[in-house]
Amino acid sequence: MVIKEAKFLISNTRVDLCPEPNKPEYAFIGRSNVGKSSLINMLTEQKGLAKTSQSPGKTQLINHFLINDKWYLVDLPGYGYAKVSRESREQWRKMINYYMQKRENLTCVFVLIDSRHEPMKVDLDFIHYLGNLGVPFVIVFTKTDKQSATKTDSTIAAYTRKMQETWDELPRMFKTSSVDKAGRDEILNFIDEVNAQ
Ligand code: GTP
Ligand code: MG
Repeated sequence: MVIKEAKFLISNTRVDLCPEPNKPEYAFIGRSNVGKSSLINMLTEQKGLAKTSQSPGKTQLINHFLINDKWYLVDLPGYGYAKVSRESREQWRKMINYYMQKRENLTCVFVLIDSRHEPMKVDLDFIHYLGNLGVPFVIVFTKTDKQSATKTDSTIAAYTRKMQETWDELPRMFKTSSVDKAGRDEILNFIDEVNAQ
């Protein structure tokens, strides 16, 4: 797929104020700092489209982008940041839960996981949450430029084993780097395929 146009539409905490649910929607989520906003910029080839930061917790809202006038890409706030108050964590949970259950055009969630780390409980919990909800999702292993391909593959194998403990069917998985653009074609082709269905 060629991205001809990517534009920011609106930021929200409320699902009822999101753009009209008349186009397929792909949402990016994962731990704070995992690289969600960077991946969106890499895919769209627009450096400043989604706001990125070295400190976790940059993205606080549901951010909608319109791609090629055909589908929505959504940048969501991250989870699992230790310094967040209990109250904010609860707000995040409610907002995300509402979004996942009520957003009728939600087509696929991209769960981003840092490819450098062993399986983490917050990530596995979120995968199980989506699986139980029946929301279609894929997994994206980010920041692969930071270590060897062998290390990335061993992280993926560890997640695969963990997921196999609960699920018969495994989600599709991608390896990406926003630095060297690894995984860009694979993800855009995947979205193309799903849009065509
Ligand atoms: P929140 O919005 O705070 O939840 O974070 P986020 O998941 O949107 O992460 P963001 O894209 O802001 O990136 C966090 C940090 O990781 C930034 O310093 C990025 O430059 C860096 N980063 C993101 N992706 C990659 C990558 O693929 N490779 C490398 N080396 N660094 C990356
Ligand atoms: Mg972000």
